Amino acid sequence: MNTITLPKPDDLHLHLRDGEELSCVVGDSARRFARAIIMPNLTPPVVNVEQALDYRRRILACLPDDTEFEPLMTLYLTDNTSKDEVQRVADSAAVYAFKYYPAGATTNSDSGVTDINKVMPALEQMAQCDVPLLLHGEVTAAEVDVFDREKVFIERILAPLLENIDTLRVVLEHVTTADAVQFVTDGDDRIAATITPHHLMLNRNAMLAQGINPHHYCLPLLKRERHRQALVTAAISGNPKFFLGTDSAPHHAHAKAAPPCCAGIYNAHAAIELYASVFDAMDSLHTLERFAARNGARFYGLPLTTQTITLRREPWRIPATLRFADTVLVPFQAAQTCPWKLVEAP
Ligand code: NCD
Ligand code: ZN
Repeated sequence: MNTITLPKPDDLHLHLRDGEELSCVVGDSARRFARAIIMPNLTPPVVNVEQALDYRRRILACLPDDTEFEPLMTLYLTDNTSKDEVQRVADSAAVYAFKYYPAGATTNSDSGVTDINKVMPALEQMAQCDVPLLLHGEVTAAEVDVFDREKVFIERILAPLLENIDTLRVVLEHVTTADAVQFVTDGDDRIAATITPHHLMLNRNAMLAQGINPHHYCLPLLKRERHRQALVTAAISGNPKFFLGTDSAPHHAHAKAAPPCCAGIYNAHAAIELYASVFDAMDSLHTLERFAARNGARFYGLPLTTQTITLRREPWRIPATLRFADTVLVPFQAAQTCPWKLVEAP
């Protein structure tokens, strides 16, 4: 197979930033994806429906009028999120979910949840109105090894949560471990997971084996090779619980280069091409459509898109840098060859 045409996929986990930075990156996603779940970790965070609608307008204002890209907005869950705000999300046609960041877990998570017990009333309300909860699934406890943060989150927070609120629907975002894959696979239909291109392609050696590579630093961290293989197996399986979420998270090159390095990898410039390369290497291009365009839409109750994209087997060189407001960012796989190319619409 040298070309593949798919329903235009959905990116169910995307960071677009704001202002000039937003305008530099949003086109990369809109070319490749029909819709995207937009993460709310701006500074200050997007905490109510009104702010989400404003942010949505700013996103669309960066795109040409005839673009069909649809931003699916989310709110940032805080200790102060009210049940009324949950109800407003349920009533909104543009806001789809709440994002749970444990306070201090990752980029712009200072306003995150300090204790799950503080948000139980909001979570119960979400379950009641069928608003999904999107989880940054890592604990931040000082005694927990950073490579175990996801596994321990599942044991301490996620498993009890699903028991306590038996109708809450959750997405464990950017899963990185065999433990997470197992937990999601064994769970009921209320739980699903997104998988990023970088966690499918790289293990932690890519971050640490030849000096420290800040461009491979993201959270949750890259893990051992056996975990990467478990993610690939889940992604290509066709299992409806696993779907595409890039976690594309742009940072200025200078903010990655000097300590403390910002966590986040920008991959929107080549995301679907890189996923296609992973599936192709496993002889599994036939399941890419399910992972990229069907499974996520089904979880979120969205219709299958009528737009299509075509990819061609044609090596191209990913740029070393991309413009990012007044400086540059270093994209994922910078200066490397990508074996699949997006056929641009005429
Ligand atoms: C994300 C960012 O930069 O906003 N960073 C990351 O490493 N993934 C935040 C997040 O999703 O954790
Ligand atoms: Zn993210």
